[in-house]
Amino acid sequence: MDSLRFLTLVVLSLISERYCWGKSHPKPSCGYPPSQWCRSLEIAIECGVQKQCMELNATRPDPSVPPVEVTLYYESLCPGCRAFITQQLYPTWILLGDIMTVNLVPYGNAKEIPGSNSFACQHGEAECLANLMEACILNATNEMAFPIIYCMESSSDVLAAAQPCLQLHTSSVKWETIESCSRGNAGHNLVHANALKTQALRPAHTHVPWVTFNGGYSQEWEDRAMSTLFNLVCSLYKGGKPPACTGALKKLNRSFC
Ligand SMILES: *[C@@H]1O[C@H](CO)[C@@H](O)[C@H](O)[C@H]1NC(C)=O
Ligand SMILES: *[C@@H]1O[C@H](CO)[C@@H](O)[C@H](O)[C@H]1NC(C)=O
Ligand SMILES: *[C@@H]1O[C@H](CO)[C@@H](O)[C@H](O)[C@H]1NC(C)=O
Repeated sequence: MDSLRFLTLVVLSLISERYCWGKSHPKPSCGYPPSQWCRSLEIAIECGVQKQCMELNATRPDPSVPPVEVTLYYESLCPGCRAFITQQLYPTWILLGDIMTVNLVPYGNAKEIPGSNSFACQHGEAECLANLMEACILNATNEMAFPIIYCMESSSDVLAAAQPCLQLHTSSVKWETIESCSRGNAGHNLVHANALKTQALRPAHTHVPWVTFNGGYSQEWEDRAMSTLFNLVCSLYKGGKPPACTGALKKLNRSFC
């Protein structure tokens, strides 16, 4: 997944301007899709992007510097949570995935109903079910979970999108796995674990979306996260800033066109 994000960066820097190709640079006619261009030196040469790939490779983050850990406590049908995921968190992760990790904790303001082995959710039954499915997806699909959950949260019908979104992003996890997890104890236990994580927050959450950075919360971080998460992650990262943070992408784009 790291390399997928890295390549996305390259691709964004090379194709964000379709204009650029149309105007002054012929579309590379190598036999590889853009996502593969920096996979090896041979491919980079064949596609004529050797210089760009080397520059990006040279600015990969220092593996000894820990990534910024962003944890989102949310509930699946809350409009503010969906807006934050789709407009801030996911786009930032696509660009800065090399210097940040994202943990998703679907639960939010839900409550465990004592003695009944079930939950009550702010946005009703459908939200409880979608939280459950997302918890199961997070457990079963590992690194594809965020793209799948983004796909769901950006759809008009989060629940109905679960199956197509899963199938869009992975073929190794079957829909039946998610369904049976959601119906059984496994799913219930995963949501219960999210309840414990949410209740353990200090300070306690007062609303959702609630986001922590390296395990800490501050009102200032929250305000910045809601409007310019990208800049906040760049500024919290302790290592050398990646090209996306320094504006080097723009330079790269200029040198390519
Ligand atoms: C970029 O780095 C990766 C991993 O170190 C390497 O496999 C790849 O060949 C490099 N790409 C280029 C174009 O040098
Ligand atoms: C999935 O859940 C099981 C049971 O709680 C746990 O043992 C396992 O580590 C989880 N896997 C992931 C990737 O979270
Ligand atoms: C790429 O260059 C074009 C024209 O020089 C500019 O309009 C565009 O914003 C640049 N894109 C990025 C991602 O910097």
